Amino acid sequence: MKKFTPTAMVLGLLLFLSGCGATATRGKAPTTLKEGLNRHFHIGTALNHHHLHGTDTKGLEIVKEQFSAIVAENCMKSMYLQPKEGEFFFGDADKFVEFGERNSMHITGHTLIWHSQAPGWLFTDDAGNDVSPEVLKKRMRNHIHTVVSRYKGRVKGWDVVNEAILDNGEYRDSKFYQILGEEFIPLAFQYAYEADPDAELYYNDYNEWHVGKRDAIIKMANSLRERGIRIDGIGMQGHVGMNYPSIGDYKAAIDAYANAGLKVMVTEFEVSILPHPGRRVSSNIADTEAYRNEIDPYREGLPDSARIAWEERMLDFFSLFIESSDKLTRVTLWGVTDGDSWKNNFPVRGRTDYPLLFDREYNAKPVVQKIIELGRTNK
Ligand code: XIL
Repeated sequence: MKKFTPTAMVLGLLLFLSGCGATATRGKAPTTLKEGLNRHFHIGTALNHHHLHGTDTKGLEIVKEQFSAIVAENCMKSMYLQPKEGEFFFGDADKFVEFGERNSMHITGHTLIWHSQAPGWLFTDDAGNDVSPEVLKKRMRNHIHTVVSRYKGRVKGWDVVNEAILDNGEYRDSKFYQILGEEFIPLAFQYAYEADPDAELYYNDYNEWHVGKRDAIIKMANSLRERGIRIDGIGMQGHVGMNYPSIGDYKAAIDAYANAGLKVMVTEFEVSILPHPGRRVSSNIADTEAYRNEIDPYREGLPDSARIAWEERMLDFFSLFIESSDKLTRVTLWGVTDGDSWKNNFPVRGRTDYPLLFDREYNAKPVVQKIIELGRTNK
């Protein structure tokens, strides 16, 4: 029979104890979103001005405790980063990246090229006329190189181009498109790649379940890859409501992007409970509507029936996300509490919406525990 030396016995004891530790950790039920979901995908949120300036400390505590990924709601948009040509303002974006690093979070940069929240000077000359294609290319290149190289190795992925394709699959008639045609997209991806070859590069959009839009996005991504230009994934914003889209359509879009060999992430998720008043459901921030009392039904609070319906809708989406977790790398909520949400002011200013996972008093809604449980018990 083999004899145990004292050293082997000590080693054995240590192994036994570490095994007990592992079992204890495995057995402990997750209590936060990131504990419940991180084996499926990163769970993220958007940081706003109040988070970055320390005036919403309760919100920040929730971010640290619950989420493993962050994106900047506004401070990395070009009108804030470069309000005048050559004059960059990095104060807030630096705070955003430092916060993510201090808390070991996955950091996404949003967004380099977008028709909205871009400074007017980008497209015009001193006389107010459109600049030439060569000048716009130079300005795009300088903006992208300056921003991406500043955060090289720190920001893990960039929403390089945002919202360039319409629901019917046509290109948006933006200034970028008017001056450069479709070519502005490959150029933006190429410039981002040059500045940080290790960063992941994404195309991001809303209503990305529309078949025409979906197919056009895949076609665009394929044409980039055929030309040897890097594109890693598709960000599906996910500004959904109670009736749009169907879970089936959303799933079909996730599957289509994944089957095209692209990473997929849900990047700006929330479930608005309010009726969408427009003729077309859109998240283009210019498509606004006038306030009317009858389209703001929950000013005084949510009745139980609405609360239950909203929770079911949220859980239907998270069930889909978890079921699709082999295709999704990240699910990011567009804000922390209901009070933060842009949906209180879009597409109608001054309504009261309830689209996020934490209420206006910073309490986790009951759905949070249910999502954690879904994450723990599935696949
Ligand atoms: C929104 C912000 O949440 C608002 O604070 C801002 O006033 C307008 O932009 N699609 C996007 C996001 O890609 O950047 C937008 O964010 C929402 C729609």
